[in-house]
Amino acid sequence: MQSLVICRARGVLLRSLNFNFNHKFICRHSNSESISKKTAQQSLKMENRPQKQRQQKSITNDSSITSNPNFNKIQQVIHSSDSSASDGWEKCWQLGLTPWDLGQPTPVMVHLHRAGALPKGRALVPGCGSGHDVVAIACPERYVVGLDISDEAIKKAIELSSSLPNADYFTFLKEDFFTWRPTELFDLIFDYTFFCAIEPDMRSAWACQMRDRLKPDGELITLMFPISDHVGGPPYKVSVADYEEFLNPIGFKAVSIVDNELAIAPRKGIEKLGRWKKLISQSLLRM
Ligand SMILES: C[S@@+](CC[C@H](N)C(=O)[O-])C[C@H]1O[C@@H](n2cnc3c(N)ncnc32)[C@H](O)[C@@H]1O
Repeated sequence: MQSLVICRARGVLLRSLNFNFNHKFICRHSNSESISKKTAQQSLKMENRPQKQRQQKSITNDSSITSNPNFNKIQQVIHSSDSSASDGWEKCWQLGLTPWDLGQPTPVMVHLHRAGALPKGRALVPGCGSGHDVVAIACPERYVVGLDISDEAIKKAIELSSSLPNADYFTFLKEDFFTWRPTELFDLIFDYTFFCAIEPDMRSAWACQMRDRLKPDGELITLMFPISDHVGGPPYKVSVADYEEFLNPIGFKAVSIVDNELAIAPRKGIEKLGRWKKLISQSLLRM
């Protein structure tokens, strides 16, 4: 059983290496977090149910059960007793153990940017990796900060982007998201494969950082992945309920949670786009 779930988890990462996608984006707003159990080849339909009946079901694509040695290697490197998590991430980058990296911006973010559906002002991408999303949404109306704890990741991000025409509108910083204290707040924070990368016992700190780094009317966008039932990590499995558990009590409210119809093919059905706002009353309570 144990090896079965690990294989499933490996499948999630292996599938993330497949960049083929050609999906029409249909933005469907829904209050429901209920997910039908289907394979990743099927699109998931959000069900409208009363709040009390909401339930996050686990999803796994059994046909994806295949082995990806990189998955085990990442876990070993991150959890290696002679290194901290930050050393572990550094080693992953040095070894080229980065199967999460799409090698391109996240399609749904490109879509939202082009549609003018992202907040302008200042944006932050914590755990930005090689920075494709930072570059993709940077423009004269939006200055984007890409943050990563790995020197190697930041070097790569800078290398890939410094000569781009919009280079004046983004920057990359080597910082630990949990201890970083910027002087300016953000209008938008985008999290993709950062929540699933951190240790689950850091999720509360993650939520507090999101709250403290955002302007009072700022928006948090979470691309929730992998919604699966595998054991261990990183990447750790996530569910909508996991995000709600940490974000709701500190004053975030989900404005929309939808299936990511623009997910790359291997991630389709196990990825949801969440848009969260801080409730003013909760912010005032903290003052
Ligand atoms: C799974 S990768 C995701 C990278 C990128 N978001 C993507 O989708 O390609 C997680 C990233 O978070 C970074 N990271 C881990 N802990 C961090 C921390 N405490 N502060 C900042 N970055 C961190 C790692 O170095 C790694 O690049």
